[in-house]
Amino acid sequence: MSKDKLEYRKYTAFIDRQTELQYLRNYINEEPESIFFIHGPKSSGKTTLLHKFLEPLQKEQKLNVKFMDLCESFANLGEDFFKAFLMADDLDMKKKTPVFFKIDAAVKRKLLEKRADPFKVMKAEFLELTREGIKPVLIIDELQALEEIYFANDKNRLFITALFNFFVALTKQAHLVHIIVASSDGCFLNTVYNDSRLKKCAAFYKVDYLAKHDVMRWLLNLEKYSKITAYRLTEGEAGKIWDTVGGSFGEIRDILTELFDNPIEEVLRLYKKKIKGMIEYYIGMDMRKEKILEVFLKKETAHIKDFIPQGIEVGDLEGLLQDMVRNNILYFDPTEAIYYPQGKSYRWGIRLYFEQGI
Ligand SMILES: Nc1ncnc2c1ncn2[C@@H]1O[C@H](COP(=O)(O)OP(=O)(O)OP(=O)(O)O)[C@@H](O)[C@H]1O
Ligand SMILES: [Mg+2]
Repeated sequence: MSKDKLEYRKYTAFIDRQTELQYLRNYINEEPESIFFIHGPKSSGKTTLLHKFLEPLQKEQKLNVKFMDLCESFANLGEDFFKAFLMADDLDMKKKTPVFFKIDAAVKRKLLEKRADPFKVMKAEFLELTREGIKPVLIIDELQALEEIYFANDKNRLFITALFNFFVALTKQAHLVHIIVASSDGCFLNTVYNDSRLKKCAAFYKVDYLAKHDVMRWLLNLEKYSKITAYRLTEGEAGKIWDTVGGSFGEIRDILTELFDNPIEEVLRLYKKKIKGMIEYYIGMDMRKEKILEVFLKKETAHIKDFIPQGIEVGDLEGLLQDMVRNNILYFDPTEAIYYPQGKSYRWGIRLYFEQGI
């Protein structure tokens, strides 16, 4: 039986993202001039958007897309990152997905014996593609998966910064390849940006959670988007879901599942309670974390200086904030250097933690 014929009471929706898709389309239709960083909170739809963008484009234009999902390909490779980056074809072959760089046995041997320059090997392939009238596109998704490798030793760090400088040469200088780097960890993205001295060599684009009108369109048309026929939502109920989780896809989906069997007030109350519990668990006995999150009772967003009056040692502050970003409690927007809770539900969780309500 084909997958399309399987019967479910709820299907995965895709809510149109015209603005974002058009932005990416404009970007790809211009000669590459800088590295393109896509950032945005956890699960805001960055990866899905990239796939939705590439699918029709690959039918319309001659493209060669090298899509590296660092979570899938490299997370467990530790110190072998250097080798893995170049030899990804071996890894991909096992998964029967398209070859990454075309490296034959002789070049591979030379690379491993350090008798060939890996950057020259990559550039040669990009040049060959453009000569054939094919636009090369290199996508590095889930950059945060490199964080551990990056900080593990100087060799890795130097390789990664050299790689980004090579990306600058390929984009800003040679205008050869579109390079897109996506991540939900704005702190790590900022570290790579600063260490590799990418000022004026990179462009940033934020992919955020859905806007209110898109959420309302989805929730008021459940049959159309999620093929849910068992219940409908009123405008007031849809508004309550928006107030609880905002435009976070995964959270909306969880709530829609709960609504098959439970009344909405109860579902939303328990959801907020769950997030409060997560905040409580994350803070544990560390009162410094509590003091940081307390700032968001009064502020929507905060700069690092806004945490200073909380009396936390300045030396500890950066590390604590980074930990909150890494654990997806806070989001760090690298373009404005501001921190804020990952989504509406986290704001509820923080508020209820301090009120000790529900
Ligand atoms: N436009 C959309 N409409 C409906 N659901 C979506 C849409 N975009 C993403 N989703 C869903 O939201 C979830 C998160 O999407 P995705 O993995 O693309 O986010 P991400 O920003 O790449 O996450 P991460 O921060 O972990 O990299 C997925 O389950 C996906 O199916
Ligand atoms: Mg992703």
